[in-house]
Amino acid sequence: MAELIPVLNEDEIKKLVADVAQNISDDYKDSEIVLIGVLKGAFVFMADLIRKITIPVKIDFVAISSYGSNTVSSGKIKLTRGIEIDLKNKNILIVEDIVDTGLTLKYLIDYIESFEPKSVRICALLDKYERRETKINVDYPCHRIEKGFVVGYGIDYAEDYRNLPAIYHLKQ
Ligand code: IMP
Ligand code: MG
Repeated sequence: MAELIPVLNEDEIKKLVADVAQNISDDYKDSEIVLIGVLKGAFVFMADLIRKITIPVKIDFVAISSYGSNTVSSGKIKLTRGIEIDLKNKNILIVEDIVDTGLTLKYLIDYIESFEPKSVRICALLDKYERRETKINVDYPCHRIEKGFVVGYGIDYAEDYRNLPAIYHLKQ
């Protein structure tokens, strides 16, 4: 039986999201940003984040698959939904649930750069920095965790657990 060990409760997540939204709103004041959410894992975080940002925002989503139904990254990355809005000369903020090895983001940054944006930064709810394999700088990390597999608040294991309002370590 899989065991769920609490990592962040609802109040803790709420505070992290409000704080990062404040930092983003301050840093980009007097300008506009486009938030690009990485489906599916970032959809809950993205929904909460945009409602706490106080400057004008546009949003879009990309979908990337790399994990399949495994808890270990396959390293094989595939874009399954691309950008639909104009990114040229825009300030882009990529919104991710978790940055782990960084390979997904490296791929995504290259893809987004191809649209000639003005700037590209990264916001991630969870920064699993220990397993980083590439030089990716997370500009807005909300919370740092060590290795281990987490679920909840949009984050899945084999498509399950996304509906949990808090974040848990999945121990199998
Ligand atoms: P990376 O390419 O290794 O950085 O993997 C990033 C992606 O893998 C994230 O967007 C997540 O969707 C997924 N991922 C990484 N760690 C976890 C985890 O602990 N639980 C669920 N998904 C994860
Ligand atoms: Mg993801």
